[in-house]
Amino acid sequence: MDRILIIGAAGQIGSELTVELRKIYGNDHVFATDIKEASRDIMDGGPFQLLDVMDDKRLIHFIIRHKITQIYHLAAVLSGNAEKLPLQAWHINMDGLMNILEVAKMVDEVKKVFWPSSIAVFGPTTPRLNTPQLTIMEPTTVYGVSKLAGERWCEYYHKRYNIDVRSIRYPGLISYKTEAGGGTTDYAVEIYYEAVRNGKYTSFLSADTALPLLFMPDAIKATIDLMETDRAKLTVHSAYNMGGMSITPAQIHKAICKHIPGFQIDYVPDFRQVIAETWPQSIDDSVSARDWGYSYRYDLESITEIMIEEISKKLNISALG
Ligand code: SER
Repeated sequence: MDRILIIGAAGQIGSELTVELRKIYGNDHVFATDIKEASRDIMDGGPFQLLDVMDDKRLIHFIIRHKITQIYHLAAVLSGNAEKLPLQAWHINMDGLMNILEVAKMVDEVKKVFWPSSIAVFGPTTPRLNTPQLTIMEPTTVYGVSKLAGERWCEYYHKRYNIDVRSIRYPGLISYKTEAGGGTTDYAVEIYYEAVRNGKYTSFLSADTALPLLFMPDAIKATIDLMETDRAKLTVHSAYNMGGMSITPAQIHKAICKHIPGFQIDYVPDFRQVIAETWPQSIDDSVSARDWGYSYRYDLESITEIMIEEISKKLNISALG
């Protein structure tokens, strides 16, 4: 039976992936870790421990002691925050990954590693519409540079040491369980919270800034599907493109107004606008569809309905008009 380590279990992706993996592998087989405490369900629903991926000695000790066979390494500084402290972000994003790749090389029991890449690996010279799997990659953010370097290292460890490391270039992820922190696509989460809480939102991206977005349940399912695919079928050992819908703040505003009439938005673009303008507007994920059957279910209408309902419940507010 597999024994799974999740690093970053308190984060936007980790908090939902932990729950799903526990359903599949059993609560006791999924070890949730983070540098900070996670939500109660993560800490009480199975093993949880504070662990810093930067502490390579404790990390390897933990992995050997708990006979870990799969690692999901999700801890990272996101795009907006990384621009505020570029060297620290580089250090955390890169050294964390290198520690994991080295552990996977050293410990035979570790059979598979998952590490998230991002649409941030692309840059202003990349074709922005239907961005192909293989294309020009000249990211201009420190986050994007770290993700691109990480992809190259993943492929290197695959080729040189036969490490089974798998990765997805996530688009912006919309979720209600855990708010993201410091990303450029985070507006697409904040907008729902503010709509429910205050009935108005100031967007840090302009009205017509299109970015690829995906609902978290689709992203979680895709991640687990990729990890469960027969290794022989995988042709990409850097990171797979994953699209979702190409959506603008104005479109989300309109979708929310159907549920919360009078929801107001204004637009005050900040430094994250500059980042967003270097990222793709839509993604060609046909290689993912071919190799491991990627697809998604939720459209903007269904996402909006669920987001408003769940956030209202969470905040104990009756927002549905
Ligand atoms: N959603 C991330 C960000 O905005 C990109 O991977 O930073």
